[in-house]
Amino acid sequence: MDLIVRGANLPDGRSGIDIAIKSGKIAAVEANIDTSAAREIDAIGRLVTPPFVDCHFHMDATLLCGYPRYNESGTLLEGIELWAELKPNLSHDWYIERALEYCDWAVGRGLLAIRSHVDTTDPSLGAARALVEVREQVKDYIDLQLVAFPQDGYLRSPIGVENLDKALDMGIDVIGGIPHFESTNAEGTEAVRRLCALAAERGLMIDMHCDETDDPNSRHIETLAAETIRLGLHGRVAGSHLSSMHSMDNYYVSKLIPLMAEADIQVIANPTANMLLMGRHDTYPKRRGMTRVKELMAAGLNVSFGQDSVMDPWCSLNTGDVLDAAHMAVHAGHLSGHNQMSACFHAVTDNPARTMGIEGYGLEVGCNGDLVVLQASDPVEAVRLRPTRLHVVRRGKVIAECPAQTATLDLPGRPKTTEFIRQTKPPA
Ligand code: FE2
Repeated sequence: MDLIVRGANLPDGRSGIDIAIKSGKIAAVEANIDTSAAREIDAIGRLVTPPFVDCHFHMDATLLCGYPRYNESGTLLEGIELWAELKPNLSHDWYIERALEYCDWAVGRGLLAIRSHVDTTDPSLGAARALVEVREQVKDYIDLQLVAFPQDGYLRSPIGVENLDKALDMGIDVIGGIPHFESTNAEGTEAVRRLCALAAERGLMIDMHCDETDDPNSRHIETLAAETIRLGLHGRVAGSHLSSMHSMDNYYVSKLIPLMAEADIQVIANPTANMLLMGRHDTYPKRRGMTRVKELMAAGLNVSFGQDSVMDPWCSLNTGDVLDAAHMAVHAGHLSGHNQMSACFHAVTDNPARTMGIEGYGLEVGCNGDLVVLQASDPVEAVRLRPTRLHVVRRGKVIAECPAQTATLDLPGRPKTTEFIRQTKPPA
């Protein structure tokens, strides 16, 4: 064997499990594997998970925070204005340099699959050209999937339609959209119809920024679900953000969610970004702008959490750790039940892997030899601690490592170190 990870806790609750990897694939998953390997990792009591997945990101804009100035209002619209000012000044090299720097952060966080939207409404298609190159450069350690995203509107931008086609011809993987940003509601509907038809014609997936607004009348997700069903695109279509669902009338939502379930819409919430951006026109009480995660999960939809932004014109925060998004979702969506917190861990691992269609993802025999050893014992603790990634493994090779985080104590009669992990048991 090339690598054996010993004594792991798995996300499904099994413990004391060894995982053996040979020739880049998982060769065995069982207790006490009786063979040796070129390298062995002691993971006793540690949670071992398939890699983290971020299925909603904007790599073309990342690490631009502060250029040409900060977003002082904190609104989505000031972010879009800032991005429009920046676009003409972003060189090919700067796109690539920032993307590669971010990918380094991602690997350190055990984040080995990313779906990034790429703005296609820049006349030069500079972002698309650069990120296609980055996708190739990082392919040995990150699965980077690119979405053709008409930031200034598919129909509203004079080059929206033409450039989206060109980006797909360049090899961008997925069709994007932004119907709530088109000039009128009717044009938003028209954009959804045309983009769905294009996906059917080209045999591609769709991931649409949909209803990222506090306006309860922004209902493009309804058209997206209906067109998905009409064209037989079930399971291939994602609705990202879906913020307006937070503000919609409950009666309307009681019809909408079953329609989304019928279409097998892939739901992607962006809890950290939308908690910052939404509700900005409210006085008090302030709406949170995160879609109805609890209800969508309960209806059986595949729900994932993305970061959306890391230090870009929209959001100066985030770190490349999708567990921050899961942690925020627990707070914003009142998802604090034990099983709900566990579901939030799956929303940044296997759920987005399914949305992206990643082949060989998981910890079963025959899957890719990709995994992360965490300084936590189970998924709920991982969401609570957002812990250190002790070892990050890709195709059986350790590609990142970090020492365990501990605090050294100087207290009379107490242990010398703590890991912030609960050690105590009820008294006998
Ligand atoms: Fe986004």
